[in-house]
Amino acid sequence: MDWSNLSFGYHPTHGNVRCCYQDGKWSAPVFNASTEITLHMAATCLHYGQEVFEGLKAYCGKDGKIRLFRVEENAKRMINSATYLKMEAPSQELFIEAVRMAVNANLDFVPPYEGGATLYIRPLLIGTSPQVGVKPASEFLFVVFVTPVGPYFKGGFQPVNVIIDRDHDRAAPLGTGHAKTGGNYAASLLSLDVSNQQGYATALYLDAREKKYVDECGPANFFGIKHNTYVTPKSHSILPSITNMSIMTLAEDMGLKVERRQVPVQELQTFEEAGECGTAAVITPIGKIFDPATDQTITYGDGKTAGAISTQLYNQLRAIQYGDAPDPHKWVTVLR
Ligand SMILES: Cc1ncc(COP(=O)(O)O)c(C=O)c1O
Repeated sequence: MDWSNLSFGYHPTHGNVRCCYQDGKWSAPVFNASTEITLHMAATCLHYGQEVFEGLKAYCGKDGKIRLFRVEENAKRMINSATYLKMEAPSQELFIEAVRMAVNANLDFVPPYEGGATLYIRPLLIGTSPQVGVKPASEFLFVVFVTPVGPYFKGGFQPVNVIIDRDHDRAAPLGTGHAKTGGNYAASLLSLDVSNQQGYATALYLDAREKKYVDECGPANFFGIKHNTYVTPKSHSILPSITNMSIMTLAEDMGLKVERRQVPVQELQTFEEAGECGTAAVITPIGKIFDPATDQTITYGDGKTAGAISTQLYNQLRAIQYGDAPDPHKWVTVLR
């Protein structure tokens, strides 16, 4: 593998791990070398969007150990997402066991410490039994596959430019935004395409009801920093990011005040630094935000250089994930 030039995309590995929910119980997870899934054409995942997924990474440290970051939080979030979509979810134990098995079966695909690539882990849960009326499935498939990936945004830790999307909503105020389900991402594809075509890395969504408050970015939560305070939106329609949850703790550890609250659009221009955060995006500083409603661009710093606090947070998060720094909050599971 050319580890230093990996894209954030699918690369074949040895195989994946699967288990099924049937007759009221989960089967034991087993390794499967096939990349294919055979489905009934009336499976609920195909018609009624009964699918939820997760995303986490395995990191190879300088010491050669492979670490998972807060895997139990991904297991809990899958349970929460599945509960909202009337799906059976694997228990936390089963989720973690399947993740461990999938990584262990693909150890030679975990990128080395140097170079910024990681092994992305994608747990997927789908309703498989047939329904024609709108009803939940009674059978489910849980798959964990892995793929080595490079940075989500080309250039890694470099400011990106984003555009406020005033023409599309990703999720309704009382809808599925807090669940990691495919429908939210389907709803963002056109918007992402329009943003990319205008030269922006991603779209920034506002609250769908009033268009007054910041929700989140396409694949990541939003944060702003000012007066030694880390500010991040509180909204029912955004995904509760495990990275953001961790950064809030790290910000407090660094002596910053943390505010999780509604963030009015007008406040964007008052931040000294802004960024997006998530497993894939890690911390990606935002250089500029364009608002088509006012035709104005907000620039953070010189628009090209990451801010000092974002950089500090990024370095500390990465150091814990790779085992370069102590793990005071017990976030890391050493796989081997
Ligand atoms: C819509 C959305 N928001 C936020 C995040 C960040 O969440 P996490 O930090 O748990 O990866 C993701 C990525 O999973 C996402 O898809």
